[in-house]
Amino acid sequence: MINVVFLGFGNVNSHLFKTLHKSKEVTVKQVFNRNYIKIISPFEKISFTDDISKLEQADVYIIGIPDDAISSFSESLSFQNELVVHTSGGVSMDALSNKNRRGIFYPIQTFSKERGLDFKNIPICIEAENSKDLELLLRVGKTISENVVEISSEKRAKLHLAAVFVNNFTNHLYQIGSEILKEEDLPFDLLKPLISETASKIETLSPEKAQTGPAKRNDIKTIEKHLHLLGDSSYRKFYELFTEELKQKYGKKL
Ligand SMILES: NC(=O)c1ccc[n+]([C@@H]2O[C@H](COP(=O)([O-])OP(=O)(O)OC[C@H]3O[C@@H](n4cnc5c(N)ncnc54)[C@H](OP(=O)(O)O)[C@@H]3O)[C@@H](O)[C@H]2O)c1
Repeated sequence: MINVVFLGFGNVNSHLFKTLHKSKEVTVKQVFNRNYIKIISPFEKISFTDDISKLEQADVYIIGIPDDAISSFSESLSFQNELVVHTSGGVSMDALSNKNRRGIFYPIQTFSKERGLDFKNIPICIEAENSKDLELLLRVGKTISENVVEISSEKRAKLHLAAVFVNNFTNHLYQIGSEILKEEDLPFDLLKPLISETASKIETLSPEKAQTGPAKRNDIKTIEKHLHLLGDSSYRKFYELFTEELKQKYGKKL
């Protein structure tokens, strides 16, 4: 059995907690959170502490707290030479205090507490300072996902950068779309099939091949109409930026 203690109980760790709890190879020993949280049924038997000095012995400690807090939090742990990992895409392994053995357990997915997720297809990036710890993280990862890969901190930083483009920025563009529709009392539901197809078509086409729209076609009059509709809206800058970028990329091929 691999004993795990969760440090922090936000979006990522609460999902990892639920899924690792079901694993036959892993025992969730304890959850730590700096503020009290009620662990709800059927998990209420799992020990909870908000006292950092009362952490139980474990094979791996998983830190799931905001990126900027990871370093100082790992320094505040009272034990030494244990395996401590974090779940961030953008923070290097070196950010963890070197008084413990360091590692990474980064699931490439967007996690919100209120949405259930199946880990089976979620890639998990692992990294460790020695082969034994890497092996252990591989075992933990494989109990929940079919895709566990070793990736260095340098490569993971780039992977995370790419993830921010395809997920965070794309989602913000959904938000802009929904606000534009709201101005006309149109439901966001009208765009959902388009959003779904945009995401599914890259299963069979490269993003480059999948691109359509006025900027790619160089439909100048349509672009001018859109700019007119935007007026001095703060969204205009995004429209101009993306349109210019797309024209640069596809324009010369027309
Ligand atoms: N969310 C995602 O989609 C996602 C995906 C992949 C990786 N990650 C990575 O996973 C990590 C956690 O992300 P998340 O979205 O789960 O974060 P989150 O939900 O914002 O995390 C909240 C948790 O962090 C604790 N916390 C906040 N500041 C703290 C501090 N200064 N010291 C100790 N604990 C602190 C909170 O404790 P309280 O309840 O006491 O406030 C709470 O348990 C990040 O490194 C992130 O980059 C996130």
